[in-house]
Amino acid sequence: MELYDAMRTTAAIREFTGEPLSDETLHRILENARFAPSGGNRQGAHVIAVRDPERRARLAELCTPGVQRYVAQGRVGETGWNSITPPTPTPEEIAATRVPESFTRPVLTASVVLVFCVDLNRVASMDLELDRVGLASGASIYPLVWNTLLAARQEGFGGVLTTMAVAAEPEVQALFSIPADHAVAAVVPLGRPVHQPTKLRRRAVEEFVTWESYDGAPLTD
Ligand SMILES: Cc1cc2nc3c(=O)[nH]c(=O)nc-3n(C[C@H](O)[C@H](O)[C@H](O)COP(=O)(O)O)c2cc1C
Repeated sequence: MELYDAMRTTAAIREFTGEPLSDETLHRILENARFAPSGGNRQGAHVIAVRDPERRARLAELCTPGVQRYVAQGRVGETGWNSITPPTPTPEEIAATRVPESFTRPVLTASVVLVFCVDLNRVASMDLELDRVGLASGASIYPLVWNTLLAARQEGFGGVLTTMAVAAEPEVQALFSIPADHAVAAVVPLGRPVHQPTKLRRRAVEEFVTWESYDGAPLTD
């Protein structure tokens, strides 16, 4: 695929045909994705490829508390799990929130599920001392995650970057024998898309790029 086409059309795929994604194709996807950058080229990533249905069912189950809070906050107009304001819904309301199938089905129905971890011993967390939520560490793993989704697209497959399982990191670590000093960054179900969208809704460049300062003039063509 032409690079710009791939960048403009790699949508979140949550519905899969059930067609197998072979070990050989999966290897080719990661063989190309592995050229993603990481801080200092320290390459702290570890990817667990999961086909076992029981482990996947447990993984989907572990997402429940994360999804409940995300959905409950979304219903009252908040960005779920945002680090700036505490949730308006009470713990009881959150616990009573139904988990939409769209959050669990992809993990159960994908051909393979990839769990992306990163060894924190090999990550320079440059915002470590700041008084806000950590963000910079993710830059050493998410380029690999996105490269994997782009490579899957090249192979005619697709998937979705999900993070709901991260809220249950200790349980996910136990489920997959992930060492305690390795963060769980993403869970990515992969499979053949039922439908491949080609038009993604994204903000125009003028809406989020400015010259010289945050309140500078928008970058136009
Ligand atoms: C950091 C991040 C976390 C995400 N977490 C989830 C998730 O937990 N579950 C899910 O279904 N989609 C998740 N997504 C997918 C987004 O919802 C999706 O990329 C976005 O809505 C755009 O969809 P589109 O590419 O089909 O337009 C996540 C995406 C990102 C980048």
